[in-house]
Amino acid sequence: KENKLWGGRFEQTVTDKVEKFTESISFDKELYKHDIMGSKAHASMLAKQGLMSESDKDSILKGLDEIQRKIEAGEFEWREDREDVHMNIEATLTEMIGEPAKKLHTARSRNDQVLTDFKLWCRDAIDRIAASIKNLQVALVKLALNNEGLIVPGYTHLQRAQPVLLPHLLLAYVEQLERDAGRLLDCKLRMNFCPLGACALAGTGLPIDRFMTSEALGFTAPMRNSIDAVSDRDFIMEFLSANSITAIHLSRLGEEWVLWASEEFGFLTPSDSVSTGSSIMPQKKNPDPMELVRGKSARVIGDLVTLLTLCKGLPLAYNRDLQEDKEPVFDSVKTVVGMLEVSAEFAQNITFNQERIQKSLPAGHLDATTLADYLVNKAREEMWRGEGEGLPREKYVDNSYSRGGIRRDKSGLPFRTAHEIVGTCVHLCVSRNLRLEDLTLDDLKRINPAFQQDVYEYLGVENAVNKFCSYGSTGSACVANQLDYWVAKLEIS
Ligand code: ARG
Repeated sequence: KENKLWGGRFEQTVTDKVEKFTESISFDKELYKHDIMGSKAHASMLAKQGLMSESDKDSILKGLDEIQRKIEAGEFEWREDREDVHMNIEATLTEMIGEPAKKLHTARSRNDQVLTDFKLWCRDAIDRIAASIKNLQVALVKLALNNEGLIVPGYTHLQRAQPVLLPHLLLAYVEQLERDAGRLLDCKLRMNFCPLGACALAGTGLPIDRFMTSEALGFTAPMRNSIDAVSDRDFIMEFLSANSITAIHLSRLGEEWVLWASEEFGFLTPSDSVSTGSSIMPQKKNPDPMELVRGKSARVIGDLVTLLTLCKGLPLAYNRDLQEDKEPVFDSVKTVVGMLEVSAEFAQNITFNQERIQKSLPAGHLDATTLADYLVNKAREEMWRGEGEGLPREKYVDNSYSRGGIRRDKSGLPFRTAHEIVGTCVHLCVSRNLRLEDLTLDDLKRINPAFQQDVYEYLGVENAVNKFCSYGSTGSACVANQLDYWVAKLEIS
């Protein structure tokens, strides 16, 4: 058996069981590129500080480059008895270049080394996820552009609520994803401080330059406190929290599309290329990718919970438990990227069933709220008729002006009253199995005399949807503005 790097103090070698149980090379080799990056920066700093010669540094850098080449060519031998990625690379470097390699671990511990590697890895991972988020946003915006003007029922409590434009609904997901990306970038900013040089926990008595390595590795600054530097795992708790939120958003999208693909809804059809069949039921075509998007959100949450639980009882500083921090992070990143990519692919391969959606729209009195708004607006017009007419809008809604002389002969209509009136209209429709637009003006006037002929400009989903005109609402002008915003922001051509 090869002597361990710490062999000096030991009389016995470790048992096979313990070696197998404690190794991390089977998963932390994922960090190899960042480990080499960190070691190169560290060696350069040691040389500049006179802790190793220029020629030692040069052979270390050359050796590390060769190791990277070998790893990427599949020629590198990863050894379990060398425990982890750090010791595998260092031991191989020693075999390759001899004495100079032994200087590389000057003023460094695996405790600061592993975190340096991990932070560099997470930084890259965040960029990968952010790119996948953008890719999905683009797919959703394109889907919205292809379905401009398509009205769908909007739901609350999964009951029909108000008509909305499909692009409006799709852009709601785009907004959520934008915040997801923002959370990741925030997390990256907070994460980007360099632990290297904190050594085991207390720093070092050797004259190193932590600012130099920090800068060389693209960190904002070295971490201020060496104990914090080797104990900090909140950077990955924050990262996996952000991933969990993204996963939940995707899960909700998945649920919505699975529902919409059902016979009962029938609002969308995935193409065969993103569907799977059944081994027993010949007729089946299932939206599995989005079901699995929903399902895999569970493991992303699980990864976060693993990490939180792992850390909750640990005193400062490093504890070997912390070796368990890597797999959940790797898994979370891989899973979220997969979820984002497959959601984008699904979005590119579905069609919305206009006819079916159209047929479904009359049900559920989606225009009822618009009708209540109609009554409030009517009363508002009455309230300002006469003296107010011809004045600029700002004037007649300005209280100080109205105190100064405008006489209000009507007091307007409380929304609660309008709600009650429309409720009565809906009640009548339900009992006669009619839509609101089927009621005659006489029917309506009998319920309330304020209804006029122009009420029919408010009824029916097409009319109703376009009455929504406040900032951010679902009317076509507002949605067109939103679409313009995203097309420009995401540089969609
Ligand atoms: N493989 C270890 C980990 O991932 C590296 C740090 C080991 N440090 C130690 N003192 N045993 O945590």
